[in-house]
Amino acid sequence: MSRVIGVISIKGGVGKTTTAVNLATVLANDFNKKVLLVDANYYAPNLNFHLGILDPINTLNDVFQDKIKIFDAVYKHNLNFHFIASSLISRQIDPMKLRNQIKTIRSFYEVIILDSSPSLNDEMLSVMLSSDELLVVTTPDYSTLSTTLKAVRVAKQKGIPINGLILNKVRKNKCELSLNDIEKATGIHVLGILPDEEKTIEAQHSLTPITQYLPNSEMSIEYKHIAAALIHEKYNDPRFFSNIKSFFSRKIDKHEINREVFRQKIKRD
Ligand SMILES: Nc1ncnc2c1ncn2[C@@H]1O[C@H](COP(=O)(O)OP(=O)(O)OP(=O)(O)O)[C@@H](O)[C@H]1O
Ligand SMILES: [Mg+2]
Repeated sequence: MSRVIGVISIKGGVGKTTTAVNLATVLANDFNKKVLLVDANYYAPNLNFHLGILDPINTLNDVFQDKIKIFDAVYKHNLNFHFIASSLISRQIDPMKLRNQIKTIRSFYEVIILDSSPSLNDEMLSVMLSSDELLVVTTPDYSTLSTTLKAVRVAKQKGIPINGLILNKVRKNKCELSLNDIEKATGIHVLGILPDEEKTIEAQHSLTPITQYLPNSEMSIEYKHIAAALIHEKYNDPRFFSNIKSFFSRKIDKHEINREVFRQKIKRD
């Protein structure tokens, strides 16, 4: 059975594309899943740049214009997943078009990840309508939280389940909202906490997802934990020092508990 997971937020720059790319990379390479990654930010596409594909030839827009079939837009990436790029488009796109195309192709994959636009427009609507489940990416500040609340509200109105929040660019300083604040405000569990990691930009500059560029960084390990929970598997941190630390510490972080609860829920469903 394939699952279509939309990665959304109603704010630019919070880390949707970084999350979509890295989850696809990890699911394909660390968990051996058949993965398709789709750039559904089709008014301002940029996912291809994260993957080193600077000028994609066949894109989703060609599919929408009936110039090619969806299968002809699939790019077989050397990171062991498939990818469909977008190219700049100025026309309005019927939000149902993406859903229909995903229906055609979904049986070939175990996980399909849709990277969304930051605007509450037809693009995001098309991602919501095409997804079985959503991940909402947010950063721990008031202005982003207000847009996250909106995203959660819209998803709930459309009846699309939200797997959880991904809290990105976390600096662990006093000015940030806490996990509890964010969970209380949104009513959604946090499934992952990603640090504000300068190397992400370095990785992007080298056109490589951070999970490949620095596979044992805190950020990469957290992506592997999130990906594992999504497919109800467990990931064991291979780093010696973090294993020693968790052996002596009795405290389990709330987002780790959330992941376990989510894993069990998926198993039951
Ligand atoms: N945890 C992180 N630490 C530091 N930089 C990050 C982190 N996550 C993402 N970035 C950087 O932030 C920038 C924006 O990230 P990204 O493109 O993933 O956001 P986005 O939500 O997809 O943006 P848009 O809404 O414009 O599509 C990129 O330069 C990316 O490398
Ligand atoms: Mg993006």
